[in-house]
Amino acid sequence: MCGIVGYIGRADAASVLINGLRRLEYRGYDSAGMAVMDEGRMVVVKAPGKVAALNERARARWPDGSFNRAASGIAHTRWATHGPPTEANAHPHLDNSGGIALVHNGIIENYRALRSRLEGKGHVFHSDTDTEVLSHLIGDCHQGDLFQAVCDALHQVEGTYGIAVMAVAEPGRIIAARCGSPIVIGIGDGETIIASDAAAIIAHTRQVIYLNDRDVAVVTADAVNIRDLDNVPVDREVARLAFDSSAAEKGGFEHFMLKEIHEQPDALRNAIRGRLDFHLGTAVLSGMGTSPRDLAEINRVVLLGCGTSLHAGLVGEYAFEDLADVHAEVQQAAEFRYRNPILGPRDMVVAISQSGETADTLAAVRESGQKGAFVMGLCNVVGSTIARETGRGVFLHAGPEISVASTKAFTCQVAVLLMMALKLGRGRRLSRDEGMRLAREIESIPELVAATILQNDHIAEVAARYAHHEHAFFIGRGPLYPVALEGALKLKEISYLHAEGYHAAELKHGPIALLEQGTPVVAMANAVPGQDKTLGNIEECRARGARIIGVVTAGDSRVVGLVDDAIEVPACHPLVATVPSVVALQLLAYHIARHRGCEIDQPRNLAKSVTVE
Ligand code: F6R
Repeated sequence: MCGIVGYIGRADAASVLINGLRRLEYRGYDSAGMAVMDEGRMVVVKAPGKVAALNERARARWPDGSFNRAASGIAHTRWATHGPPTEANAHPHLDNSGGIALVHNGIIENYRALRSRLEGKGHVFHSDTDTEVLSHLIGDCHQGDLFQAVCDALHQVEGTYGIAVMAVAEPGRIIAARCGSPIVIGIGDGETIIASDAAAIIAHTRQVIYLNDRDVAVVTADAVNIRDLDNVPVDREVARLAFDSSAAEKGGFEHFMLKEIHEQPDALRNAIRGRLDFHLGTAVLSGMGTSPRDLAEINRVVLLGCGTSLHAGLVGEYAFEDLADVHAEVQQAAEFRYRNPILGPRDMVVAISQSGETADTLAAVRESGQKGAFVMGLCNVVGSTIARETGRGVFLHAGPEISVASTKAFTCQVAVLLMMALKLGRGRRLSRDEGMRLAREIESIPELVAATILQNDHIAEVAARYAHHEHAFFIGRGPLYPVALEGALKLKEISYLHAEGYHAAELKHGPIALLEQGTPVVAMANAVPGQDKTLGNIEECRARGARIIGVVTAGDSRVVGLVDDAIEVPACHPLVATVPSVVALQLLAYHIARHRGCEIDQPRNLAKSVTVE
C-alpha cells in the first residue's frame, strides 16, 4: 500500500528518499513522487510507475549533477484509490500557493465537501485525489505556523491519515501526524527519518518512535516534539527495531517470495521455540495474558482476519474445536463491525494479521474491545498498531515478510494457532499424554516443511505442465479445506490465473459444471480422516476430463493412478499436515507464475499492507 518517507539531516535528502522508497516497494504501489527543499525552493518530481522512473526523472531535473544538495524532503509511493496512477495524482500534493507539500496515506472521507468549500474560496485543484484537499486545507489554515495549520486542518477531516508536510516558509522542520495509518520516526545522529514502515528507517537507525492516533510531531534534524491535535504535549517512548537490514535483501534467491518460502523452516523454529512444554504436554504462551481460570472460562473463540490471515484462522477454527472442545468461529474482519457481533467477556477474540496494520482487522479489534471481549493479537510486526492496541497476544517471529504474497506468515500463524489450541485443550479435553504427543507433532513442523521444500524441482516440473491454463480449482476438506482456499489465493494473486478454492464436497453443487477436458484440479488428497470421500470427489472430476494434481502423503499407495501429478508431503497429524501441504501449494503457485513471466513479488493491483477500508 502507499508508503511515506521523510528526511531531514546532513545527508542528501533526494538520495535518502529514493533509497527509502525502494525499501517500501514491496508494499505495492503504482506511482511515486518526492518534494525536496532546494536552496529555499520547493522542487517536486513525480512519475507514474516504479521508483526507478522517479529516480530517472529526478536526476534529469538536476542535469548539472546537483541532485544531492537538498537537506530535507518528503516522498511517497502511491497505491491508487481516488483517481488513476498518473503523474498528476501522485503525491506530494501542494497547497494553492505552491509553498506547502504533503504526502498522505489513508483516505479523507469528507474530501468532496471540503473540496467544494475550498473551490468556493478560489482554490484550484490539479488532481482527482482526496489528498490534495488536505494540502489545500492546510494552506488555507496556514498563518505562519505549519504545526498549528496542520492541527487546524486535521480537526476538519474525517477519515484516516498518516502524513508528512513541509513548507518553504519554515525550512528545517517537517510535520508528521497519524490517525489510523502508521507513522514511525527514526532518530539518528543529526538526522531524523519519517516513514510509514520501519523498513525505510533501518538503514539509518534502530531508535524509533511510533506515533499514536491524533499525535502530531514537529520533526527537525535533532529533535522530535510530539503533541496531540489540541496542542497538548505527549510522551512517546523510544523503541528499538529488532530486525537488521539484511533481512530485507533477497539473499541469492530470484524473488523474495521464493526466499521466504525457503525461510519457513527457520521462521517456524522461531515461532515455536520455547513455547512448547514437553513435560506438561502444553504450550507456554505468556503473551496471551491468560490465567488458567481465564482459559477455563472462555466459552467461544472468535478468529478475525482478512485474506491469507483469514485462511489461517479457518485452520485455527478446526484446531480449537478438535483440540479444545471449544466453540470457535472465523469472522471476515471487514464485515465484523457492520453486523451485530454478539460478544462478551467470555469470548476470546484473536485478531490475526501479519502486518498488524490491516484497517479492517484493526476496526474489528476496536469493535470487539468495545463489546467487552477478551481481545488479543496474532501479529508478525512488532510495534504494529494491532499489537500495540491489543496489548496482549503472540508474535510470530517470522522475520520481515517482503513479498506481497504471504507465505511464511501463514505457516507461522497456523503453528501459533495450533499451540494456542493445545494450551486451551490441556485445560479441557486433552490428557497430558495427548498433549505431549501433539507438542511433538508441532515441534516437527519445521522438518516437515524442510522435507516438502526438497521437492522444489519436482514441483517446478509439475508447474510447467499447467502454466498455460487459465483456470484451476483447488479442493480439500476438514482443515485442508482452508489450505485449498489459500492455494487458490496464492495462485491467482501472483500468476493472474483464475483459481477457485472449494470444499471438496461443494464441487458437485455447482462448480463442477465448469470442468472441461484438461481443467486442472489441485486436490488435497492427504491420508487423513475424510480421505476416502476426497478420493471419490477426485473420481468425479476425472470422469469429467479434469487433470488432477494431488497433494498426497508420502508412500500412500491409495492415490496412485488417481492423480496425474503427485506432490508428496510427509505423514503427520491431520492438523499439522496443513502446514507442509500449503508449502507445496506456495511452490506450485510460485513456479506457475514464474513460467508465465509474472512480476511475482509485486503483483499488479496488490498491496502488502491494506491500510484502507
Ligand atoms: C495474500 C495476502 C493478503 C493478506 C491480507 C491481510 O497473500 O498477503 O491476503 O493476508 O491483506 O494482511 P495482514 O495479515 O497483514 O492483516
